[in-house]
Amino acid sequence: MAKNTTKDYDAKLNKTVFSVKHQRTFCMIKPDGVMRGLIGEIIRRIEKAGLKVVAMKMIIPTEELIKKHYPTSDEAWVARLGVKAKKGLEGSPLTAKDAYGTDNDKELGDSVVVSLIQYMQSGPVVAMVVEGIQAINMVRKLAGPTLPFMAEMGTIRGDFSVDSPLVANIEGRSIHNLFHASENPVEAENEIKLWFDGEIICDYSLGNDDIMYCKHY
Ligand code: TYD
Repeated sequence: MAKNTTKDYDAKLNKTVFSVKHQRTFCMIKPDGVMRGLIGEIIRRIEKAGLKVVAMKMIIPTEELIKKHYPTSDEAWVARLGVKAKKGLEGSPLTAKDAYGTDNDKELGDSVVVSLIQYMQSGPVVAMVVEGIQAINMVRKLAGPTLPFMAEMGTIRGDFSVDSPLVANIEGRSIHNLFHASENPVEAENEIKLWFDGEIICDYSLGNDDIMYCKHY
């Protein structure tokens, strides 16, 4: 009995370690990142962190795909975009009504969605599945927060953009923030399924895995 418990416990531990080490996330270099020649730079950052790309493709997404990727029919998600857009006004003398013509979160979110769909189709994107320890959080950290002018230096969005919703929304365009990364495990699973449905996700080891994770006696 005791032996079995130990075995079960070991199996559980091994399973947990395996799932943490092989966590997968979806990420994407958006059209501005591709057209600015930043594909190599962004992938370099992912690889430098010890993560590996296990699937990758370049496409111009259809409107249908973008609408499935972003939950554009979820009113709460759309209103959250409006709230984020208002955050971009912090420190400015303008009210949301002055700047965007409305202070209603949902209305503001709706107009962001229109420009977001145009932006995401303005050129090719590079879609990827990335794998590694805590890949979801790690790639979000590499990306930095949504609004580039608030993103820390050292992050993809902070190093390569200063764009802000104040400017973008007044100009009637999306924020150009270069990169997308899944926010949580449910989003990662759905996005991998959506973008790589039925496609091969590769399984391989990195040469430096042994050095990074072996025991030294
Ligand atoms: P969101 O899912 O909130 O952010 P993230 O990409 O960090 O997960 O927003 C989706 C995209 O909407 C975001 O990457 C850029 C765009 N966006 C705008 O174009 N204008 C805005 O005012 C906001 C808030 C977002």
